[in-house]
Amino acid sequence: MSDRYLSLVNSSVGSAVASRVGLPQPSVLRRFRSGDPLLPGAVLLGSTAGRPAAALKKLITQAGVEVVDDIDKVFDGEKVAAVVLDARSVAAPADLAALRAFLAPGVKALGPSGRVIVLGLPADGADIAVDATRQALDGIVRSLAKELRRGATANLLWVADEASLASALRFLLSGRSAYVDGQPLLLGPGTAPAPDDWDQPLAGKTALVTGAARGIGAAIAGVLARDGANVVVADLTQAGEALAKVANQVGGTALHLDVAAADAPQRLLEHLHSHTDGLDILVHNAGITRDKLMANMKPEQWDSVIAVNLQSQLSVNAALLDSDQLNDGSRVVCLSSTTGFSGNRGQTNYGATKAGVIGLVRSSAASFAAHGASTINAVAPGFIDTEMTAKMPLATREVARRLSSLQQAGLPVDVAEAVSWLSSPGAGGVNGQVLRVCGQNLVGA
Ligand SMILES: NC(=O)c1ccc[n+]([C@@H]2O[C@H](COP(=O)([O-])OP(=O)(O)OC[C@H]3O[C@@H](n4cnc5c(N)ncnc54)[C@H](O)[C@@H]3O)[C@@H](O)[C@H]2O)c1
Repeated sequence: MSDRYLSLVNSSVGSAVASRVGLPQPSVLRRFRSGDPLLPGAVLLGSTAGRPAAALKKLITQAGVEVVDDIDKVFDGEKVAAVVLDARSVAAPADLAALRAFLAPGVKALGPSGRVIVLGLPADGADIAVDATRQALDGIVRSLAKELRRGATANLLWVADEASLASALRFLLSGRSAYVDGQPLLLGPGTAPAPDDWDQPLAGKTALVTGAARGIGAAIAGVLARDGANVVVADLTQAGEALAKVANQVGGTALHLDVAAADAPQRLLEHLHSHTDGLDILVHNAGITRDKLMANMKPEQWDSVIAVNLQSQLSVNAALLDSDQLNDGSRVVCLSSTTGFSGNRGQTNYGATKAGVIGLVRSSAASFAAHGASTINAVAPGFIDTEMTAKMPLATREVARRLSSLQQAGLPVDVAEAVSWLSSPGAGGVNGQVLRVCGQNLVGA
């Protein structure tokens, strides 16, 4: 479902009209394209502690990106593609002035689809003033993300451990994170090896994606394959033809599997046993909606959504952890939704499952870490243009598209990019987390 309004306001006439009458002016976002540089310009790097740490500068230059660490150099009107501020030193409210001093000129120098990334330390309960100051970074970044325009984003990394910092910075600077905006993400300890080739971080890995015949699942299969994985695509038997087409496109194999069937875990294990050397990446993407107000909700509408969206994930994870089919260092990514945070009218059943998935990943993180340093995380998409959202009435869909800081819907590929990053070896320090891919959805949390 193409976004005609987005195309219109990016034409010269449309842009002039929108600007005159004060209509939203979403920009065409910079997305990953093979062969493009990670970032189309330099990073302005700063630190609240004075000079930025040499190690941080090295991480960015190793990604092939030029670093400018003297803010005076950008005052002569030159644009930068990103602003990275290491704010790990802040310890008292007065220290926050250093963020203003750096970010005020920094965001003025930011080019289109620019990136602001702030590094902080998570609160640790040791000192109230320190924790309050650290938490303040969250409010600064979320507010700044709402101010940025022209496709620029701002995100916050809570760096409890640097194991995944290189990989997280590359993801957030690149076009892969086009629709990730206004989000905090915790980087913890973990095994997070750098790939031999950053363009093929999933080389040699076996992945399985459920609900992969169309929409977000098909996009995930495509991006995992692009990033080097061998992909098994699974979906309902009735989706057979579409599924075969996706399997063909990604050079993978197809598995007919109803994830809600009682024998689904067993069938999945048998398939892995006979066709693979064990599973490295599992994406629980299959999901359905059966929207009704609670007052009118039928038992079958309730039960089917719980079974497909939540119980299936619990059953398959338990079976995998109990089997010899889940390789060490594996990655599980579960599809949640921003509805899991904010709720949505007519979606008590769906909201239950998407909040349930958040509980599932938080509570499973330790079990997966104990399984050869594996991880489990969730991705929570906001409004994404797919057949699921195409069912919405036109006016509701058009309004929903504009209700994010980026003033547009995300694309399936935006969710897929986040899934692929969380599935990569370098993201080993991210565990039990929920990453929203919602363009900083303005509705709900
Ligand atoms: N589209 C959005 O805006 C959005 C927002 C937030 C979250 N999500 C979540 O992302 C995931 C994918 O959404 P989508 O928009 O691509 O949906 P979609 O309806 O386009 O595709 C879902 C796929 O899952 C398959 N499926 C359904 N039940 C199944 C079952 N029992 N076993 C195996 N496969 C099954 C369907 O056949 C279909 O191919 C879902 O979990 C959804 O809740 C979507």
